Amino acid sequence: MSHPTSQSLVLEEFGTLPRLVERPVPEPRPGHTLVRMKAAAVSHLDLNVIDGKFGILPDLPAVPGTAGSGIVLASDAHPEGSLVRLSGKALGLRRDGTWGDHALVPDAAVEAVPEGTDPALACSFFSPAGTAWASVHAVADVQPGERVLVTGAAGAVGALTVQIAVRAGAEVIGVVGRPAKLPHVPAPAKALLAADLSADAIGGPVDVVVDTVGGPVLRDSLPLVRPRGRVALVGYTAGREFTVDLADFLLADVSLLPVNLMTRGKEVAADTRRLLDDLTSGELTLPVERHRIDGLAEAVARLRSGEAVGKVVLDLG
Ligand SMILES: NC(=O)c1ccc[n+]([C@@H]2O[C@H](COP(=O)([O-])OP(=O)(O)OC[C@H]3O[C@@H](n4cnc5c(N)ncnc54)[C@H](OP(=O)(O)O)[C@@H]3O)[C@@H](O)[C@H]2O)c1
Repeated sequence: MSHPTSQSLVLEEFGTLPRLVERPVPEPRPGHTLVRMKAAAVSHLDLNVIDGKFGILPDLPAVPGTAGSGIVLASDAHPEGSLVRLSGKALGLRRDGTWGDHALVPDAAVEAVPEGTDPALACSFFSPAGTAWASVHAVADVQPGERVLVTGAAGAVGALTVQIAVRAGAEVIGVVGRPAKLPHVPAPAKALLAADLSADAIGGPVDVVVDTVGGPVLRDSLPLVRPRGRVALVGYTAGREFTVDLADFLLADVSLLPVNLMTRGKEVAADTRRLLDDLTSGELTLPVERHRIDGLAEAVARLRSGEAVGKVVLDLG
């Protein structure tokens, strides 16, 4: 009898795109859960991995994909037939990830999600929602009445950061790089083009910046923060480096704080799970752009160029 097969995207060389390959469905084994995948997130972290530009990289060939969702086929730890999301435990980093029809993952990388949740949302909400929550609360500690500037405010993390900061009682300004993104900054934030950003345009200094873009955008937003204010740095899509004049930095007296969901994940997990209910009910919004598994090249191109709005997801189901 022939062994059932499954399609997976397999990365053979860093700096290339993974290839769609037919492989045997993985054999269940103790301590692991076999999942029929429904959806997998395509994130900037995944792009950094396939480019070979992240601090943790898999041995090749490998299946990328650091987050996904699907239905349990076999497991000692999770009920068969239940909807679950997959992340953590070095999925898509040190072991095969979620970009395929099936995934065999450590039981601890599996978490139940409420039945009826959109699998695309289930696979993609945790990273942007957890990062946004960590930025606003755990790292920047935004207080009611503070003024918060969010860059990349129509992106997945940025748009959720805007909404969570508004909920925290802040007055929020959302900055985007291209005019087409202005309508995607969630209300009631004031939406502004990065090219128009100045102290005058935002009505004076802000208390906090949450920067999801990095590079020159980070450099240009630092002078907009009041002394003793905070800048929470989330991402570096626009550049991994910037230079700082140390005399100006001391004079400005603004704290530059890293946001790292990998180290903050446990701390924000309970609050982040609650945000899934709000996303499902529509109280919070996270746009999702869906692509087929054989449309990975377009999904990657749209994420890389910044044209995508919200999360980019492979529809596997
Ligand atoms: N620190 C952490 O733990 C953590 C966790 C999750 C994500 N991240 C990082 O956070 C960043 C944002 O993630 P996301 O999921 O919100 O991404 P996203 O939805 O793609 O948003 C990123 C935004 O960056 C802007 N951008 C500016 N220059 C760009 C460029 N050269 N290429 C692409 N986009 C550019 C785009 O907005 P405009 O069109 O408005 O310029 C885009 O909307 C990423 O760097 C990601 O790796 C970090």
